[in-house]
Amino acid sequence: MRIGILGGTGPEGRGLALRLSQAGYPVIIGSRSPEQAAQRAEELRRCLKEESGPGAHIGGLGNPGVVEACDILFLAVPFEHAAGLLESCRDQLRQGQIVVDVTVPLQFRSKRLQLRELPEPSASEHLAGILPQDVPLVAAFKTIPAHLLEDLSQRLDCHVFVCGDSVEARRRVIQVSSGIEGLSPLDVGPLRQASTLERMTVLAIQINKRHRVHHSRFRVVGL
Ligand SMILES: NC(=O)c1ccc[n+]([C@@H]2O[C@H](COP(=O)([O-])OP(=O)(O)OC[C@H]3O[C@@H](n4cnc5c(N)ncnc54)[C@H](OP(=O)(O)O)[C@@H]3O)[C@@H](O)[C@H]2O)c1
Repeated sequence: MRIGILGGTGPEGRGLALRLSQAGYPVIIGSRSPEQAAQRAEELRRCLKEESGPGAHIGGLGNPGVVEACDILFLAVPFEHAAGLLESCRDQLRQGQIVVDVTVPLQFRSKRLQLRELPEPSASEHLAGILPQDVPLVAAFKTIPAHLLEDLSQRLDCHVFVCGDSVEARRRVIQVSSGIEGLSPLDVGPLRQASTLERMTVLAIQINKRHRVHHSRFRVVGL
């Protein structure tokens, strides 16, 4: 199974690429610039080689090349550009692929961090409406901080909440995520749960600020 990361040159995408590659999956990061993607991929391979020896399969392509080549597509661009990117590659998407939405529609208003107001309750439900009927969208990784993902010396030690309206797509994303060491995937049900996950991300950022930490995240007890 080949994993693609649209916008994989940013911190969240790079972190996902490192962790998924460490889990043994071939990963291709995407960018608006194929040259930039290839350069970042080279840096990530070097980083993995230092951490866990040779053998990492991380490549870099333009975003359309990633859509063509991959089965699971992580969407790791800022939310305000996500719809445009999906619209531009909509005709390339095909049955059997899954889009994993990690976006959080954050904005600063009057110096306060908040979620954008959208016609749908969540970014994920908004973006799911752009996809062809036979390409499911799963929301995941919204509550995992980028700099924690990128720092391979740190154990993640948290849950990743996974929601979506296709049971089979959720199962596949959970299967992929369970390969990442220290990460416990948790099925939280249909896509309407995404609005809660997006709010939890705002809460984690506020916890970080109040308690002067960087990597707060969530683990559920009592399961
Ligand atoms: N940062 C976190 O801790 C965190 C945690 C959870 C979820 N997330 C979510 O993950 C996503 C990525 O976060 P990030 O911090 O990595 O974001 P970022 O660095 O701001 O952007 C990621 C990549 O998106 C691409 N991009 C920028 N503008 C674009 C446009 N107009 N059209 C297409 N692509 C564009 C850029 O790649 P190229 O220039 O190479 O095309 C950039 O490297 C966001 O939606 C964020 O809400 C972030």
